[in-house]
Amino acid sequence: MKGVILAGGTGTRLYPLTRLINKHLLPVGSHPMVCYGIERLRQAGITEVLMVIGKQSSGLYTNFLGSGENFGVKLTYRVQESAGGIAEALELADGFIHPGEKFVVLLGDNLFLDDLTPYAEKFRLQPAGTARVLLKPVKDPRRYGVPVFHSDRPELIAYIEEKPKSPKSNYSVTGIYMYDSEVFGLIQGITRSARGELEITDVNNLYAADGKLEYDVLQLWWGDAGTFESLQEAAIHMKGVLP
Ligand code: G1P
Repeated sequence: MKGVILAGGTGTRLYPLTRLINKHLLPVGSHPMVCYGIERLRQAGITEVLMVIGKQSSGLYTNFLGSGENFGVKLTYRVQESAGGIAEALELADGFIHPGEKFVVLLGDNLFLDDLTPYAEKFRLQPAGTARVLLKPVKDPRRYGVPVFHSDRPELIAYIEEKPKSPKSNYSVTGIYMYDSEVFGLIQGITRSARGELEITDVNNLYAADGKLEYDVLQLWWGDAGTFESLQEAAIHMKGVLP
């Protein structure tokens, strides 16, 4: 199984810091944010990793991460030209992921303490053309994609609402997704949302509508470090994760 880390994006909620440096290179404790995702993939035995990076700071990424050798992985890079949404960034993995291959996608600003190994193992056993997402109970689900569970088949998600005003569950769909190469065909079938983006939630809803979206719930701390407050919180939780 391969891995894809989406680390483009502009990080407007972290201005002015992100005017200088890409969000995923900001410090979380003593390491740049992106290192934690790489480590989670390596820990799960996923060592072939595509980094989707923005043009800004691209030299810093390659300078710091290099081939990935020092991090126990083999890195490939693709540059995202514009901020057109998570599904648009994911399209750049087409070609790196070969037909029939399965892979794990991490949003680079998602930091978490769970080992991904058991979740990736379950996904390995799923039939081709299905997907798996990881969930976490949160205090304010209105900030996230929120799952609604299937009434007859509780192991499936029926649909996901993106940033709903009245969430139907207290779970967030985290930025940890598992697909196979069929996802690229599904991305072709979605259109831009009101915010002008190709939404990953629209892609996941195509799987859900077909009864093909399974999930696990993360057991340990998870957060997305998109704001100053969450960045500070992440630094506290991730302390000691990397040497
Ligand atoms: C994105 C997804 C959302 C998900 C979140 C997790 O939101 O659209 O479904 O819950 O990541 O971090 P964004 O942070 O891009 O607004």
